[in-house]
Amino acid sequence: QPLTINKELAQKGGYRFFMEKEIYEQSDVITETMMGRVVNSHIEFEEIESEFLQEIKAIKICACGTSYHAGLSGAYLIEKLARIPVSCEIASEFRYKDPVLHKDTLFIVISQSGETADTLEALKMAKSAGLKTLAICNVDNSSIVRLADRTILTRAGIEKGVASTKAFTTQVMVLWMLALYFSQLTNTLDENSRAKEIEALLHTPHALKVDENLHERIRRLSKRYLHGHGFFFIGRDIFFPLALEGALKLKEISYLHAEGYPAGEMKHGPIALADPELFTIALMPKNLLYDKIKSNVEELSARDSTICAISSQEFELADDFVRIHTWDHYMLEYYEMAVVLQLLAMEIAIRLGNDVDMPRNLAKSVTVE
Ligand code: G6P
Repeated sequence: QPLTINKELAQKGGYRFFMEKEIYEQSDVITETMMGRVVNSHIEFEEIESEFLQEIKAIKICACGTSYHAGLSGAYLIEKLARIPVSCEIASEFRYKDPVLHKDTLFIVISQSGETADTLEALKMAKSAGLKTLAICNVDNSSIVRLADRTILTRAGIEKGVASTKAFTTQVMVLWMLALYFSQLTNTLDENSRAKEIEALLHTPHALKVDENLHERIRRLSKRYLHGHGFFFIGRDIFFPLALEGALKLKEISYLHAEGYPAGEMKHGPIALADPELFTIALMPKNLLYDKIKSNVEELSARDSTICAISSQEFELADDFVRIHTWDHYMLEYYEMAVVLQLLAMEIAIRLGNDVDMPRNLAKSVTVE
C-alpha cells in the first residue's frame, strides 16, 4: 500500500493534484502541439492535404463537455480568420435531432479520449451521410481516431485529472492553427495580419506559464468565493465559450452552482438575480470588445453583484481584481485567463475539501450514452 502512495506522489511531481500538475504543464505541452506545424510563418498539417478540403463550404463541429467549449471557441476563430461558416453542436443533441447534412460540410469532432460514446456516434452519422470527417483528439488509435478520415493529434500527453485542462488549451490551439490554415486556402488574411497571428501563436507558451504570484493571489482570493447564491462567468465573443469552460471547471470540482453566460445577454433575465451573494467572474480582455464588456459589468455592479474582474486593465468597480499581463492579441489574454479560471476552480475546490482529481459522479471518459 505505501508503495502505491509513493508512486502516485512521484507521478504528481510535487504537485498536490494531477490537475495542478497538468495546469502547470500547459506552457510546455502547447509547444508540442505547435511543433512542425508552424513553418516559416505558415501553418502546415501533414495530416491533411489541401485537396481533402476542396469543395468545403461550411464546417460543423461536434463534441461534449470541455471539448465542446473548445469547439465553440474554434467556431469563433475559423469564422473570424477564414470566413467559413461554422456551427458547433453538442454531440448528444446532434445525434437525435435528425440533422440536415450537406456533403460540402467538413465535419470536425473534438475529443480528448477519443472514446466518448455520443461524439463517436455523431461521427458515424456524419460518415454515413457522406461528409468528410476530421478528428481533433489526444489519444492516438482511439475509436474516434480509427473512424475519422483524418486526425490531428493535440499531443497534450496523458491527462489524469477528470477536470480537463491541458487537453482543452491544446484543442483550442489546434483549432486556431486550423483557422489560420484555412485562411491560407481562402486568402482571407493579408500578409501583415497573418504575421501578427503567427507571432501571437508563438507567444502562447508565455501566456500559459503559471506565474507564482498570480497563483498565490488566486489562492488567497478563493476563500471569499466559497458560499453564495452562485456564480456567473461572463464574457463576449470567444470569451463567452471560455466563460462556459470556467463555469464548468468550477461546477465539476467544487460542486458550486455556476453558469457561463454571454455578457450582453445578462440584461435579458439573469440580471434579476444580481445581489451581493451573486458572484460575477468577468472576463475583460483589453483587445476584444473591452468597452462593451465593461458596460455589461458596470450594470451588474450597479445592482450589487460581487464582481471579480480578470483583466490587464484597471477596473475600479471590481470587488476583486485578478490582473493578467498586458498582451497585444486577444488569444494571449484568452490563454492566460484560461489558466486563471482553472486555478480559481481548483483553489476553491481544495478549500472546500474536495478531491480535485476524482470529483464525485464524474468519469474521465463517458463511453456509454
Ligand atoms: C467527460 C469528462 C469531461 C470531458 C467530456 C468529453 O464528461 O469528464 O472532462 O470534457 O467527457 O470527453 P472527451 O474525451 O470526448 O473530450
